[in-house]
Amino acid sequence: MNPQVVMSGIRPTGSGAAHLGHWEGALKSWVKLQETAQCYYSIVDWHALTTEYQDVSNIEANVRQALLDLLAVGIDPEKSVVYLQSAIKEISELFLLLGMMTPLGWLERVPTFKEQQAQLSDRDINTFGFLGYPLLQTVDIVIMKADTVPVGEDQVFHLELAREIVRRFNGLYGDCFPEPQPFLTPIPKLPGVDGRKMSKSYGNAIFLSDAAAVIDEKIRPMVTDTRRKKRSDPGVPEDCPVFALHKAYSKADEIAAMAEGCRTAGIGCLDCKKILIANINGFLEPFRQRRGKYEHISVRDILEPGNLRATQRAKQTVAQVRELMKI
Ligand code: TRP
Ligand code: SF4
Repeated sequence: MNPQVVMSGIRPTGSGAAHLGHWEGALKSWVKLQETAQCYYSIVDWHALTTEYQDVSNIEANVRQALLDLLAVGIDPEKSVVYLQSAIKEISELFLLLGMMTPLGWLERVPTFKEQQAQLSDRDINTFGFLGYPLLQTVDIVIMKADTVPVGEDQVFHLELAREIVRRFNGLYGDCFPEPQPFLTPIPKLPGVDGRKMSKSYGNAIFLSDAAAVIDEKIRPMVTDTRRKKRSDPGVPEDCPVFALHKAYSKADEIAAMAEGCRTAGIGCLDCKKILIANINGFLEPFRQRRGKYEHISVRDILEPGNLRATQRAKQTVAQVRELMKI
């Protein structure tokens, strides 16, 4: 499959700053795809409302943060259409129209619906808006007539639902939407600094916006292979989260040297960590530089041209849908 029209979204939520896991799982593909396909990248602030409607005080700052993350990793608003979901009113219209033909049962059986409700038990998200989350996501995608959606593994079910809704629409009213396929990047298993899977909710993530000193503070105290109690105890690199990060961010000869030094107790864990710190900082440096360049630019100015281009495309789709639905 050759991606022609690509769409994906980033949620501007409280703890939503992008971390290395997001980069490996999705953002890396976002950047690559902009060279070969027409890409639509949206900051999905309506989606943020589905879980944060009780406290909206941070949404604006989070939109800014999400935009800076995108620009920092190399999303180029000249190549890709970068826009704010809520600026495209046609999305709300198509959400209403597709809502008419989306069976309630399809939404209720989305695993994230019950999971998130259980996980976010501090707030009441037993709402119409939250139930509609995957439909709103479907609309984001189909309104741009996207064929390809670069996302992490966790979104595969949402994409399946999107295809079901597309098939139902095309069957009921006539061919309109392509069936969107997920574009998955096989990712190295990235542990967080506590050894569990890297996740913002575990508080163990390395953020793309972390300053060099922060990287140092996070990696120095990392747990290592428990066999290495003393400097002279040999270890098993495969059992160490520091080594897993080396495998993702260090050069082949360094990885081999760390493995050897660990097994033979030739190096200490702190030496091993210092090399990792330097490599992760080297990896993040271009992101930091780009972020610095954009830091003082107004969010509005950057998003305005993308909002216009996204609106144009959305208007065309909605006009076609209205015709097919006889509205
Ligand atoms: N649900 C996605 C996430 O949590 C965000 C999202 C919203 C999205 N709309 C989208 C992703 C459209 C891809 C396409 O990450
Ligand atoms: Fe982990 Fe490196 Fe220590 Fe081995 S030497 S246990 S790989 S930190």
